[in-house]
Amino acid sequence: MSKKGFIFDLDGVIVDTAKYHFLAWKKLAKSIGVDFTESQNEQLKGVSRVKSLEKILAWGNKTISQEEFNTLMAKKNEDYLSFIATMNEDEILPDVPKTLNYLIEEKQPISLGSASKNARTILKKVNLYKKFDAIVDGNDVSKAKPDPEVFLIAAKLLEIKLEDCIVFEDSVAGVQAANTAKMVSIGIGEKNVLHEADYIFKDFTEISEEFLMDLIKRK
Ligand code: BG6
Ligand code: MG
Repeated sequence: MSKKGFIFDLDGVIVDTAKYHFLAWKKLAKSIGVDFTESQNEQLKGVSRVKSLEKILAWGNKTISQEEFNTLMAKKNEDYLSFIATMNEDEILPDVPKTLNYLIEEKQPISLGSASKNARTILKKVNLYKKFDAIVDGNDVSKAKPDPEVFLIAAKLLEIKLEDCIVFEDSVAGVQAANTAKMVSIGIGEKNVLHEADYIFKDFTEISEEFLMDLIKRK
């Protein structure tokens, strides 16, 4: 059986945490007199903590000192961590374990490819940590999505060629990163947002074992 590298984003793909990032950024932005819309929030998805704050400041036409920048980043993470403090398996998105288990049964290598520095903590909280052959997160990269660095490292750890990797992503930046890496991109979310992806599904309940097997066999 041929092997493909299956790379999963975390926030908004494996767990329902995108909403907590949104809430924490909203609160922080409000505290400095900036507001942003849900459609602007799409531009924050998949993007590192630093890049997200830079975008929010730009939307609000704000310039602040490096010290204040660091304080705001710490504040956002503090709020975010309080939202996920009591997190458990209930936050896993529908049919994610089923998909992971199927790929494991089929002996396919699996990696995480997330921008979050909290990724390992979250995977442990929801008891999925051990399912991954490799984990690449915000602590391992120097360039944020849409740069493909996170996925390139994942492919290397899995020892799978770039064109044999398949990426599941809920963010525009992540889909672009996968496309730049010449990987197969699978958007999880809305068609009108993720139209650059090779395939788009609302969630994993729409992804059949037949579809996964076709990906595995793909030449
Ligand atoms: C991504 C999220 O997975 O991680 C972004 O989509 C978030 O919203 C980014 O900003 C960085 O996460 P963290 O947990 O390191 O602040
Ligand atoms: Mg995401």
